[in-house]
Amino acid sequence: MSFFTLFTILFMQIFTTGAKVPAVIVFGDSSVDAGNNNHIQTILKSNFRPYGRDFFGGKATGRFSNGRVPTDFISESFGLRPYVPAYLDPAYNISDFASGVCFASAGTGYDNATSDVLSVIPLWKEVEYYKQYQKKLRDHLGDKKANAIISQAVYLTSMGTNDFLENYYTLTNRRSQYTITQYQDFLLTIAESFVKKLYALGARKLSLGGLPPMGCLPLERTTSFMIGNGGTCNGDYNKVAMAFNGKLSGLVKRLNAELLGSKIVFSNPYPMFQQIVRKPSSFGFEAAAVACCSTGLFEMGYMCDQYNPFTCSDASKYVFWDSFHPTEKTNRIISQHLFKTVLSKLL
Ligand SMILES: *[C@@H]1O[C@H](CO)[C@@H](O)[C@H](O)[C@H]1NC(C)=O
Ligand SMILES: *[C@@H]1O[C@H](CO)[C@@H](O)[C@H](O)[C@H]1NC(C)=O
Repeated sequence: MSFFTLFTILFMQIFTTGAKVPAVIVFGDSSVDAGNNNHIQTILKSNFRPYGRDFFGGKATGRFSNGRVPTDFISESFGLRPYVPAYLDPAYNISDFASGVCFASAGTGYDNATSDVLSVIPLWKEVEYYKQYQKKLRDHLGDKKANAIISQAVYLTSMGTNDFLENYYTLTNRRSQYTITQYQDFLLTIAESFVKKLYALGARKLSLGGLPPMGCLPLERTTSFMIGNGGTCNGDYNKVAMAFNGKLSGLVKRLNAELLGSKIVFSNPYPMFQQIVRKPSSFGFEAAAVACCSTGLFEMGYMCDQYNPFTCSDASKYVFWDSFHPTEKTNRIISQHLFKTVLSKLL
C-alpha cells in the first residue's frame, strides 16, 4: 500500500466518522416526516401496517414509506443514528434529540394555506418547535455545548410538492391569486425568510431540498390516465418542478454570499429520481408507474391499510410505496447519491 493510498484511507475515515457533524435537524413534509403527524389532529397519518413493515422492528412509525425516509439515511451517512426521531414522539427525550431531531409534518408546505388543507403543522410552527428545542437543549447541556451543536449541526429541509399538488392545482384560491410563476416566486420568498430565520437562530450548515419529478408520482399518472393521457407522467408538473428547482438553486447561491459564515447547499433529487423513473430496471426495480401499496394507483394514508389485499409482497421491486411516496429502496438510492455528491460538503 502506497503512502498516498494509506493517507487517503485515513483521510476518508476521519471524514466518514462524522465527528464534525453532531446532529441533523429536519424540517419539511411527508418526504421526511418521522412521525410527528401521529401526535396531531389530522387525517394524514401512516402509523399503521403495512407502513413501516421494512423499518427496524417492522414498526409503523408514521413515516410514509415501507421503511426509512431519506433523512434517516443521511443521518447514518454522517455517522449518526440510522434514523432521525420525531420531535413530538414521547418515546424520545432531549438527550436523544441532541444528535438529531425531525420537525417535519406530512402534508405541509412553504405556504401556510397548504398546511391548512389537512390541518398539519405549518412551517412557521416547525420553527417554533425548533426554538423550544433549542431552549431544552441549553437547559440540558448548558449554553456552550448546546450552541456548538446548534452551529455545527446539518439542517435538512424538504418540502414544496404539496404546495403545488395539494394546494395550487387542487384548490382554487391560490390559482385565482397567482399565476404559476408568481406562485413559485411567492414560495421562494417564504423559503428565503425561513433560511434567514434558521441562520438568525444559529444554523450555519443547511441543505435546501429540491422537488422530485412530481408529475411522475403514481397518483398523477392515474389522473393523467383518467383524463385520457394514457397514464404518462404529467409533463407540466415536471416542468414546474424543474423551474422551481432552478429558482431554489439561485436562492442558495445568493444566500451563501449574503449570510456570512454559512454553508448552504441545494440537494436536488430530480435528476437521479428521473433516471430511476425512466429506467427502473437498471436499478433493479420492476415497476415505476404504479405503487406497491394496494392497487398502486391512488391509495395513500388510511386507504393503504393492512386489510387491502392487493399490496405487493416485495416493496424493493417498486419505485413507489404508495401513490405519493417512494419505497425505502428509492429513498436509499437518492439519499446516498445526494450525500456523495452534495451533502458530504457539509462535513
Ligand atoms: C432520556 O431517557 C433515557 C431513557 O430512555 C433516560 O435514561 C434519560 O435520563 C432521559 N434524559 C432526560 C434528560 O430526561
Ligand atoms: C404564516 O402564518 C404565520 C402565523 O400566523 C405568520 O406569522 C406568517 O407571516 C405567515 N406567512 C405568510 C407568508 O403569510
